[in-house]
Amino acid sequence: MAILLPGGAGYIGSHTAVELLKEGKDIVIIDDFSNSTPKALEAIKKITGKDFKFYEMDYADREKLEKVFEENKIDAVINFAGFKAVGESVQKPIEYYTNNISGALVVLDVMRKYGCKKFIFSSSATVYGDPQVIPITEECEVGGTTNPYGTTKLFIEQILKDVYKSDNTWDICILRYFNPVGAHESGLIGEEPKGIPNNLMPYVSRVAAGILPELSVFGNDYDTPDGTGVRDYIHVVDLAKGHVKALEKLDKENEGLYIYNLGTGTGYSVLDMVKAFEESTGKIVKYKIAPRRPGDIATCFADPAKARRELGWVAEKTLEDMCKDSWNFIEKNS
Ligand code: UD1
Repeated sequence: MAILLPGGAGYIGSHTAVELLKEGKDIVIIDDFSNSTPKALEAIKKITGKDFKFYEMDYADREKLEKVFEENKIDAVINFAGFKAVGESVQKPIEYYTNNISGALVVLDVMRKYGCKKFIFSSSATVYGDPQVIPITEECEVGGTTNPYGTTKLFIEQILKDVYKSDNTWDICILRYFNPVGAHESGLIGEEPKGIPNNLMPYVSRVAAGILPELSVFGNDYDTPDGTGVRDYIHVVDLAKGHVKALEKLDKENEGLYIYNLGTGTGYSVLDMVKAFEESTGKIVKYKIAPRRPGDIATCFADPAKARRELGWVAEKTLEDMCKDSWNFIEKNS
């Protein structure tokens, strides 16, 4: 029995592949390398000393996906595939809705055809919009997303709830990621955004490396301790381990729909991150204060108690680990 990872060569997918292989699970990866490279697959093998099957294909290609199910005994799917650039999603809504939503529907339909009903979905804290309460619990209302990327996450969550309602023999887990950062300690896999990064940590590490001249801090007049935006940064390896725990939960429970926040429960501001990065790496991060970025909120961090209680999962890595591992990855790969 194998676990299928669409998008398994990407940032979170590759780290999860490592953790699954380490746990002795069999995996099959599919990826079209639209936002990843074959190098990640070699790195997964190098880190784990294990091999796995790989198909280079678009996850939304029904015919090819059916072939994957014909050729392998797939027990569960963890879906990492999908476009994820917030700014680009505003420019290309049709592409985003098509790839993310139609893609997920094709996967679910093919799974149903082959009697595979265990599904883990990569959602995001973005589904909470501007959250009503901090820290955010899973009971907080969802909605009010500010871009098509976020809305695809929201819509797919709704689709999954409807699928489960129509047939409660499905076993579904929605994981709402907070802000994934860092890289595997080997420095062999990590985040490689194409072009100029939008997210804070990849930007900070590129400034420290001299690849980009300086960081623009988007707003210092938010209602936060130092005026800059506060987020819940979580080490990608902790996040990857959350998927292993979610899979164990689905294996144990058999039938249900579960939703978990995957965050640390601690919020750090942009300036906290700059300082932590400088202290952890000994590098200077030049920055200037710039206007707020449209669509940003002041504060977002998780209440991760439900994942701790029901999955036995807690984020263990420190902010220093996140900074050091981001830097190690940049140093080894630029
Ligand atoms: C963003 C997305 C979110 C997505 C997540 C992970 C928005 C509104 N949200 O979250 O949907 O799930 O990435 O990909 O885009 N910052 C700077 N300068 C920079 C970059 C960021 O000051 O150059 C600040 C931001 O204003 C924010 C914090 O750093 O306060 C984190 O930003 P970012 O890493 O982009 O993540 P989010 O905006 O939280």
